[in-house]
Amino acid sequence: MKKTILASALLLGAPAFGQSAETLYQKLCSHCHGVKFQGGNAQSLVDGVWQFGDKQGHIARNIKNGITHLGMPAYDKALTDAEINQLARFLLDAEDQAAPEEAPLPASLQTLDYDIDVQIFAEGLEIPWSLAFIDAKNAYVTERPGRLRTIQNGTLLPAPVENIPTVVAEGQGGLLAVAVDPDHENNGWVYLAYSHGLEKKAGEARAPAMTRVVRGRVEDNRWVDPEVVFEAPPETYRTTRAHFGTRIVFDPSGHLYFSIGDRGSMDHAQDLSRPNGKVHRIHRDGSIPADNPFANNPDAVPSIFSYGNRNPQGIAAHPKTGAIWAAEHGPMGGDELNLIAAGKNYGWPVISYGRNYNGAIITEITRKEGLEQPIWYWKPSTAVCGIDFYSGDLFPKWNNKLLVGALKYEDVRVLDIEKDRVMHEEVVLKNAGRVRDVRCGPDGAIYVVLNDPGTILRLVPKKD
Ligand code: HEC
Repeated sequence: MKKTILASALLLGAPAFGQSAETLYQKLCSHCHGVKFQGGNAQSLVDGVWQFGDKQGHIARNIKNGITHLGMPAYDKALTDAEINQLARFLLDAEDQAAPEEAPLPASLQTLDYDIDVQIFAEGLEIPWSLAFIDAKNAYVTERPGRLRTIQNGTLLPAPVENIPTVVAEGQGGLLAVAVDPDHENNGWVYLAYSHGLEKKAGEARAPAMTRVVRGRVEDNRWVDPEVVFEAPPETYRTTRAHFGTRIVFDPSGHLYFSIGDRGSMDHAQDLSRPNGKVHRIHRDGSIPADNPFANNPDAVPSIFSYGNRNPQGIAAHPKTGAIWAAEHGPMGGDELNLIAAGKNYGWPVISYGRNYNGAIITEITRKEGLEQPIWYWKPSTAVCGIDFYSGDLFPKWNNKLLVGALKYEDVRVLDIEKDRVMHEEVVLKNAGRVRDVRCGPDGAIYVVLNDPGTILRLVPKKD
């Protein structure tokens, strides 16, 4: 594939010379490290921890060469040495000036349809990633470093669930999705998707890892009856720590869907013999549905449902049609909302509306015969994350509308969707923090999972 590297001047639409480090930072880096350097997709740059060296020279080297296995791009082609040095200096200054306290959470919100009360459902979590309800008062929350937390009768238990699988908590990896079986009341199954590591091989810097899905039951806050329901072939594991996906969702007939991001190897998204860069569909016991689109293709991973997906971190089933919708992190300027259909190719990296985070052009084309267009795309990228359809009694005007959370833009949007068209988009929560997940709860309230500080908000209409 043809790759062109743009000079930063072209990329930024203005002469690079004279652009302040702040402007460069906001355009190139804030997507991952946060508008206020606070982190999110990547680590905070103002917490006083420089894992890879704290001298200006180290920081400049890390910007120039990247830390590519963790998802930090190299900027040697996109920026001059002078710009890189300015940025390194700028980051050290920003750290000195970092304000210690966070802005207070808003107590209420005004939207076109509702005035909303903002309550706190749970707090004190570390990088909460995903929220799954058993009922309105009981739920599970994953913390990316590798803890499954229980909310019991509306209270977060201090101790995490014991005995869950060991996760690779590095880069974007860790304990990611949690979901409760549609028939949980009778069978007790809880599903987890996480970054699973193999033994480190001699000569390799890191252990190979891949997204894996397991289920188990929770008894006395302990994980029991563990079963693996999806595991990729070991030879497909990757040593990078980026783009694991993932979310878990069920369609009305009970199939389980989950995503795996491209794991930093974008061409794999087009390769059916690899699990990465795909949305998968399995039975809940891990067996392969006979009508899966590639079930009879001996060269394909049989759980693949769609391909050409970059890094979906939001999946939801439409409450009326049961159709599967997925939101994926694109490259810079290419976050997508897709309607996922069996066997379809969503185009990554052949077509895209975005370009690489270091300014490199990935592809010149946005459309191609045989490749699906997104239903909607966000340019600039909001860093779209968890999504859920609203269906409940508290916000009746929002029934069947899609709630969409975003990390970088720190917002929750409500998208009005008619069949396969987005007709309207409204930001209903802004700047409360980076949003990892958003859920319509069994009580009809809207739950928003904020990354840092790890907090779950509960939104309900104001009583007049
Ligand atoms: C696509 C996401 C992404 C973008 C864009 C990005 N980074 Fe990073 N960066 C990372 C990741 C991932 C790491 C590795 C640390 C971690 O696990 O979060 C990292 C690490 C770093 C580190 C090392 C921190 C340490 O602890 O030593 C520096 C410095 C840094 N980035 C600066 C920048 C600058 C400056 C830019 C913009 C020119 C930038 N990054 C853009 C993802 C990104």
